[in-house]
Formats: sequence, C-alpha cells, structure tokens
Amino acid sequence: MTSGHEYDAHRAAPSSLRRSGGLQWHFRALKHRRLHDPFRSAIAAFLQGWHPRASHLIIVGPSAGWFLPGPFLHLFSRLTLIDLDTSAPFFFALRHGRELERRGIKFEWRHADFVSCLPQLLHDDREAVVLFCNVLGQLGLERDDYEARLAQLPMWLADRAWASFHDRYSARVSKDERVDISSFTSHEPMDGGMLQRLGFSGEWTDHGTGDVLPVGVLRHYFPWYITPHRFHWIEAGAVI
Ligand SMILES: C[S@@+](CC[C@H](N)C(=O)[O-])C[C@H]1O[C@@H](n2cnc3c(N)ncnc32)[C@H](O)[C@@H]1O
Repeated sequence: MTSGHEYDAHRAAPSSLRRSGGLQWHFRALKHRRLHDPFRSAIAAFLQGWHPRASHLIIVGPSAGWFLPGPFLHLFSRLTLIDLDTSAPFFFALRHGRELERRGIKFEWRHADFVSCLPQLLHDDREAVVLFCNVLGQLGLERDDYEARLAQLPMWLADRAWASFHDRYSARVSKDERVDISSFTSHEPMDGGMLQRLGFSGEWTDHGTGDVLPVGVLRHYFPWYITPHRFHWIEAGAVI
C-alpha cells in the first residue's frame, strides 16, 4: 500500500462523485428528505443553542446545506465553505443562495480537502469560528491517515470557538428492527458499552470520532435514519 501525503492528497481530490458526498448524496438527501426531517430539526435546535461571537463562519463539508438552517447562517456576515464536492455550490445556491444574497452575506467556496486548506484559513482569520458539518466521521472514506488528522484538530482549533456534528456509529437495520429512539445528552463519550446499555446488539461501524470532542464537552446524540435501512448515531458538541 502506498502511504504518505501524495497518495492521500490524490484520493481526496475535488469532484462531484465521491464516496463521502457529491451527486449521489444530493439525490439521497432529496429522496429521503421526509425521513430526515426529525434529524434536521434536531440539528437546528443544537445550532440554535450555539452562540459564537463572530462574523466569519468557516463551514467544513456543508454540501448543499441540507441540514443547515437559514436562520443560523444569517447570524454571520461572511461564510467560507470548504467541500470536495464540486456540485455542492449549485445545490447550495438553490437552497440558500437567494436569501444569503438578499441579506448581503458573502459566501465563498474552497474545493479542497480541509486537511490541506483549513490551517491557512485559521491562520488568516484568528476570529473566525468553525462548524464541521457531518464530515469528520467521513474522513476515513477520503484519507487513510484520518486518525492522525483527527488527532491534530485540537492543535489547529486551540483558543477558537468551534462545533461539530459527525457520525459516531452506524449500522444496517432491517424494517422489523426499526424503533423510535430519542436524542439524549451525555458527558460520557458513546462507546460499545453505551451502545449495549441502549439495548443495541449487532454489527456497528465505528467512525473513529470518539475523541473529536474534548473531555468535559456536553455531547448530544441524535438518531438518524439516513435511509430506511441504515441507522446512524450522530454526535454533536460545541466548544466555547
Ligand atoms: C455526509 S456529507 C454531509 C454533507 C452536509 N454536511 C449535509 O448535511 O448535507 C459529507 C460532506 O463532506 C465533504 N467532505 C468529505 N471529506 C472532506 C474533506 N476531507 N474535505 C472537504 N470536504 C469533505 C463531502 O464532499 C460531503 O459534501
């Protein structure tokens, strides 16, 4: 196996057909929008509770902003949107563009792997705040070195307000196994033991995000049926 920066940079090249997003994701988000409504509302409530004092928001992995509420975006005067998906601006413009323009909110795209461009953006604006938008649990689809890159985040984000919602665990479910599950909060990170206490058996994919949120941050856990047959536990938290 090839390893190192060149290989990873090549794999995480911008395009509209990616494993972590792109055209298939837009069609899935449109097709299952009703199924996604409870999760969309949960994310909106979570973001409503985050009050970073900043005019510039860097959003990592926004795609079309399918789960980003307009009123949250309107709190800022400048948005920088980082996404590998080159089709994202088209769908984002349909969903949010007109209102952002009407309000004079500037938004600018970076089609790049955030691992390579976020440090410079953070350096250029020390007041900017960051939202990781369902992307950190997908990094393993784009980069073999995702664990090392996730471990670097605290250094990049030191003394900065930031928030993230990301995949924590996911599993296939059959129609008979589907149950109504409620969101909850915890200071303990979700792990295999917690999954068992919640009464879930079966095979879970660990998205490698157990240490993304610093110790002591309140963790919100949101259930999300991404399709009728695939269930995700999404972890969310805000720092500062
Ligand atoms: C699961 S999708 C979620 C999209 C969006 N947050 C939403 O809720 O609709 C993950 C998004 O992150 C983007 N992405 C994945 N890895 C990335 C990386 N390393 N750098 C920048 N964007 C990335 C994908 O292109 C995709 O748009």
